[in-house]
Amino acid sequence: MAGIEVTSLHKRYPDGTVAVEHVDLSIGDGELFVMLGPSGCGKTTTLRAMAGLERQTSGDIRIGRTLVNDLPPAERDIAMVFQFYALYPHLRTRDNLAFPLRAEGKPEKEVRERVAEVARMMQLERLLDRKPQRLSGGEQQRVALARALVRRPRAFLMDEPLTNLDAELRADVRTEIKHLQAELGTTMVYVTHDQVEAMSLGHRIAILNKGRVEQVGTPLEVYDRPATLFCAAFIGSPPMNLIQVQVAEGTLRGPGGLVLTPPDGLPRDRALVAGVRPEALEVTAPGAERTVPARVVSAEALGDEIIYVVDHGGANDVRVRMPPTIQFAADEQVGLRHAGGTPPVYDTSTEELVA
Ligand SMILES: Nc1ncnc2c1ncn2[C@@H]1O[C@H](COP(=O)(O)OP(=O)(O)OP(=O)(O)O)[C@@H](O)[C@H]1O
Ligand SMILES: [Mg+2]
Repeated sequence: MAGIEVTSLHKRYPDGTVAVEHVDLSIGDGELFVMLGPSGCGKTTTLRAMAGLERQTSGDIRIGRTLVNDLPPAERDIAMVFQFYALYPHLRTRDNLAFPLRAEGKPEKEVRERVAEVARMMQLERLLDRKPQRLSGGEQQRVALARALVRRPRAFLMDEPLTNLDAELRADVRTEIKHLQAELGTTMVYVTHDQVEAMSLGHRIAILNKGRVEQVGTPLEVYDRPATLFCAAFIGSPPMNLIQVQVAEGTLRGPGGLVLTPPDGLPRDRALVAGVRPEALEVTAPGAERTVPARVVSAEALGDEIIYVVDHGGANDVRVRMPPTIQFAADEQVGLRHAGGTPPVYDTSTEELVA
């Protein structure tokens, strides 16, 4: 097992596309590290450079203490799982799982033991004697994952391995991956553009945008205090409301007189935006204490919650998360207030967190 150090990684493809710009990552030994970002932000390129499948333009990659820049993939001792997997169609599950071990020349007794163990962990025991065409898509994907996990590499690199699964199975396999990683204690770098997956899996998450790292933090850190406006708009569903504010007499004032509690150390001379989570706002009957007048634009009832889109005279409508018991209809006049807490505040020009 080993940590992974990426130092000033830069990748420019031959056609001139810059996919990764001076990325630094320090991934701990035994860590489940998630790289999250929108399509095209450089996730796969970074992962392929770690694996040795793509040569970086500049920068260093270390696995454990070894500088691996010049090592071919097979000598880096990592296992990689891709979004599109391929099982050997003529082999039964047990032989698909055994394949990487036999290729390494492991004794047959050890092969059988390891296959049995990984089949137990991935709940594939019933499926060991079936060939891929008699497995569902989700079962095939679990076999592909198990085939990577059967080896004991120094690190696992996974590129959106759950993309082809339906929502329920995704959640199941995600839980299995998390348990397995904890059980094996092997460093894992997991790439996804799905923030729910990132939040539920990662010990830490790196948020990438246009080839750069915008933030690295625990799921709670990136949720509570996004480092940039990009992260604020990317994490959360619906994401933070970005509300233009002014500092006034120890409070923050938004449009229509909405009052927020300011964090310490706010600069006074800059245009500021507060990041307010939908659950940190409330809609009430009009005229209630500390509210500003607002109008319901739409209400989306999701069963366990209602998401209100509310117009309170700001540049953008805000989204408010409420329990399903509080019901207002579209076009109804309501009161809007901040439910409490201190929102992170951003400088509009640098787009970075200031307090
Ligand atoms: N072989 C290539 N030649 C030129 N440009 C490439 C090549 N491969 C990727 N790119 C570009 O590099 C950028 C990063 O691509 P990459 O595949 O790393 O993104 P990604 O974050 O994995 O996206 P996705 O979520 O869609 O998989 C994109 O702009 C992409 O078009
Ligand atoms: Mg990709």
